[in-house]
Amino acid sequence: MAQDPLAQNQTVRRGMDDLVVDTTAVSWVDGQRGRLYYRGYRIEELAKKATFEEIAYLLLCGELPSEQQLLAFTWKLRQLSHTPEKIIRILQELPRQTAPLSALQTALAALGCTDPTQKTSEEENLLGLAMRIIVQTPIILASFYRLNQGACILSARDDLSHAENFLYMLSGRVPDPKDAHAMEIALILQMDHGFNSSTFTARAVASTLTNIYAATSAAVGALSGPLHGGASELVVEMLDEIEDWGDVDAYLDHLFAQGGKVMGMGHRVYKQTDPRAVVFEDLLEEMTQGERDPKDLKILSRVAQRARAHFESRQQPIHVNVDFWSGAVYRRLGIQPILFPAIFAAARIVGWCAHILELRQNNRLYRPLSLYTGPVDLKFASLKDRNP
Ligand code: COA
Repeated sequence: MAQDPLAQNQTVRRGMDDLVVDTTAVSWVDGQRGRLYYRGYRIEELAKKATFEEIAYLLLCGELPSEQQLLAFTWKLRQLSHTPEKIIRILQELPRQTAPLSALQTALAALGCTDPTQKTSEEENLLGLAMRIIVQTPIILASFYRLNQGACILSARDDLSHAENFLYMLSGRVPDPKDAHAMEIALILQMDHGFNSSTFTARAVASTLTNIYAATSAAVGALSGPLHGGASELVVEMLDEIEDWGDVDAYLDHLFAQGGKVMGMGHRVYKQTDPRAVVFEDLLEEMTQGERDPKDLKILSRVAQRARAHFESRQQPIHVNVDFWSGAVYRRLGIQPILFPAIFAAARIVGWCAHILELRQNNRLYRPLSLYTGPVDLKFASLKDRNP
């Protein structure tokens, strides 16, 4: 049997582990030191000091905006909030049990069909298309959610920020400033994260020079898988189980004895605490300040402490990740667990678009090789001569 010549001199990196496939200046995950940078800025500082709109500008355009640039950018975002009636009708037609990210994937692909300005490989308009997609993503997610709740769809309001609008369009209430601030931080923290699976997907699809709607809807598809779309939902399930169990230590002893995993801990790249988790923890502490019994915070703190002691005793570099505290934060914002991955998508859409813009500056088709392990030169037998 002929052997694929690649077998002689190539190591197969299944899952592309540790493989560097391109360069980027959008973000850097420094897993050894537990740091995340957007265009050179530390995530902790951006989350505390900036707005969604500023960081979207930073990621898309490469630098922080001046006051004038930010005003123009924000004004333009507001002009892009009209969702075509056809998209709403598609959302209405989807089966009720459709997951929010599946609805988003469908709607983003369909949005491309309704955009008269987009052409394959259109360069000048790419930033405008990216901005439209960024504005439409939370609108689509909130509209689909409200349709499923039997509630009326709400339009984005010109007097609200992007983060405020997202909460408003979900709940029908203008959020108080503290909740809006929490949502803003959650979105900023999850906007970009190196070459994660969905970002890689966005880039791979965009590298064929197809349109930005096709690339971003494919990225949503990648995000919707359970290995990627965030474990924050599962952390909240764990919180409820621990409450039923009544004791954190006994729950963890049982989990470890069964070979189970602590949700919201461990990461392929971080060998230290995920810096986003630190910000989410601070945020949860801030949100629960003054409460007599901040249950979720207390349980999670104990889980983190006890699990770390377990991993340390085994010299495993397993620490809390972004999903560990985020679900408890979302729960306090009144957001249903089914929507947690939707928040992730509403944030990460900015990173996907920034990567597509970056790739278009110097495009190269993504086309890796595979090592063939099947047979060769088989004789073709006609249908009647084949064994049953
Ligand atoms: N709880 C308990 N053990 C864990 C663990 C966790 N959260 N994460 C990793 N481990 C253990 C594995 O059981 C494995 O142990 P073994 O070598 O004795 O078999 C070892 O650490 C390596 O785990 P692996 O799953 O191969 O590491 P990875 O780098 O491929 O995985 C994750 C990273 C995120 C998939 C993994 O840590 C995980 O499943 N975490 C829980 C889910 C989660 O929080 N996902 C969100 C990620 S942002």
